[in-house]
Amino acid sequence: MTYTHRHLLGIEPLHPTEITTVLDLAEDYVALNRSGDKHSDVLRGLTQINMFFENSTRTQASFELAGKRLGADVMNMAMQTSSVKKGETLIDTALTLNAMHPDLLVVRHPQSGAVDLLAQKVNCAVLNAGDGKHEHPTQALLDALTIRRKKGRLHRLTVAICGDIAHSRVARSNLILLGKMENRVRLIGPPTLMPSGVAEFGCEVYDDMREGLRDADVVMMLRLQKERMDGAFIPSEREYYHRYGLDAEKLAYAKPEAIVMHPGPMNRGVEIDGTIADDINRSVIQEQVEMGVAVRMAAMDLLARNLRAARAGQA
Ligand code: NCD
Repeated sequence: MTYTHRHLLGIEPLHPTEITTVLDLAEDYVALNRSGDKHSDVLRGLTQINMFFENSTRTQASFELAGKRLGADVMNMAMQTSSVKKGETLIDTALTLNAMHPDLLVVRHPQSGAVDLLAQKVNCAVLNAGDGKHEHPTQALLDALTIRRKKGRLHRLTVAICGDIAHSRVARSNLILLGKMENRVRLIGPPTLMPSGVAEFGCEVYDDMREGLRDADVVMMLRLQKERMDGAFIPSEREYYHRYGLDAEKLAYAKPEAIVMHPGPMNRGVEIDGTIADDINRSVIQEQVEMGVAVRMAAMDLLARNLRAARAGQA
């Protein structure tokens, strides 16, 4: 097992063998989560604090459940009602929490880079649960685990990521991970929703969805991140659905056995047709949620091992 980092801040610093380490350990947790007794005590005695400065349903619930199943003491900070609203800075909030001796800090923040900054100020392990448009590493890892289980491998696949690429940390973390594992990544979307400089990641860019989907093994759909848009990026949702909404007709361009993914929350009738999302022969959206808990258990288990080893070294 190799995972050498103190934190999980992004996919960028990870070596392919570290990605494989997380996924392999997550497989054990998939089995545990499907068993009668879902409990383990690898995090017993450790305190996990979840700080979500941005709304979340799945990710927060998933981290909370992951921590509880591993035996940690888990606390959810209600950031909407915390002193942040009274003007306290992110760093002051972090230092206050740090004084309570947490071991694992799970942070989501609307600003890119905020979680990295916070990690420099505390002496516990920090997990990035999404920072602005930057990274969402556990999402990319759970997507990778879902793909590996469904396709039997995580290399030499053609993965089409479609929609609001420019504002998506999910797209960014995924394209970095898929690139590291030697897959072919295609980005599909209107030019207004394509970030500049994507070419440096070595992916192909399409504004025609049918062309982009041709022979894809995996089709990953994204939500329009309106909360990160400061103006009009699309003419209308109707027009957007017409050109970029995934329906049966467009999906027919991908391989017949292609899987359909979505990180959630989904906007049916905007980026995806509801019948495709619910088609258990194509859509793996529910599996993604299941893999999310297992991947977060694996990530926290590995970080806790490193934390304990570092503390033993200091003692
Ligand atoms: C994503 C996120 O928050 O970045 N959702 C998630 O974590 N499941 C994508 C999104 O909000 O559209």
